[in-house]
Amino acid sequence: MTKLLALEAVDRYRKDGVCFPVRVLSAEDAARYRARLEEHERSTGAPLQGNWRHKVHLLFTWADALVHHPRILDAVEDLIGPDILCWTTNFFIKEAANPAFVSWHQDSTYWGLEPDDVVTAWVALTPATRENGCMQVIPGSHGIDQLPHVDTFARDNLLSRGQEIAAEVDRSKAVWVTLEPGEMSLHHIKLVHGSDPNRTSDRRIGIALRYIPTHVRQTKVRDSAMPVRGIDRYGHFDPEPRPHADLDDAALAAHADAVGRQVKALYQGTEKTAFRA
Ligand code: NI
Repeated sequence: MTKLLALEAVDRYRKDGVCFPVRVLSAEDAARYRARLEEHERSTGAPLQGNWRHKVHLLFTWADALVHHPRILDAVEDLIGPDILCWTTNFFIKEAANPAFVSWHQDSTYWGLEPDDVVTAWVALTPATRENGCMQVIPGSHGIDQLPHVDTFARDNLLSRGQEIAAEVDRSKAVWVTLEPGEMSLHHIKLVHGSDPNRTSDRRIGIALRYIPTHVRQTKVRDSAMPVRGIDRYGHFDPEPRPHADLDDAALAAHADAVGRQVKALYQGTEKTAFRA
């Protein structure tokens, strides 16, 4: 029995390392989430940047509601079981007609998480199309070993280190993960994926919600995560508090602590002390 996904979708995830589309929000609700993000951006006069693109569910009650959304968690439970932590969230925003891209990579490269049953729910708040730089994936690549990556720190690369797979990726095998607003894709931590720039006149906004079963460990630092469903019998992660109000003192403090740990893990071996803008 599954909670939300069709058995066929679960099979596809096991075989391909990815399944989509999964409808989790109405188009109207997706537009409301976008509006909440853009309300905040208007208040600061700038797009969400740097550390604030990450673990955003610790800062804003609307993002916290999204990581607790029952449909999203039902689908995640179908893949990783009932005891679930949200490890992080990352906004992937591609501004209109902008060179920002994502190089070919495996998420597992710098995360420090073991074992590898880690799933990303990538929720589209706008359409994700070929033209605006939707994610591209190599189905089945989650079954190969960790590939060597090189850090480029390329300016327009949206990844933390601009990391990319050292070898040539065979793009002829790539599948375009096109989504309507309110749909999501689910992908495995070792799936090879990347994306091209947005060539359209509107922003492309997606938010990646990273979920782990409670038995997963962080090998690099003492890390934190937010319990979102079930029971944590392992205690591998310090529990993160849910925000009671957007950007209140407690939320800002919790976010600073959690992002500090994540930066230490992801940028280990470099001089970096914060996420790139
Ligand atoms: Ni990725």
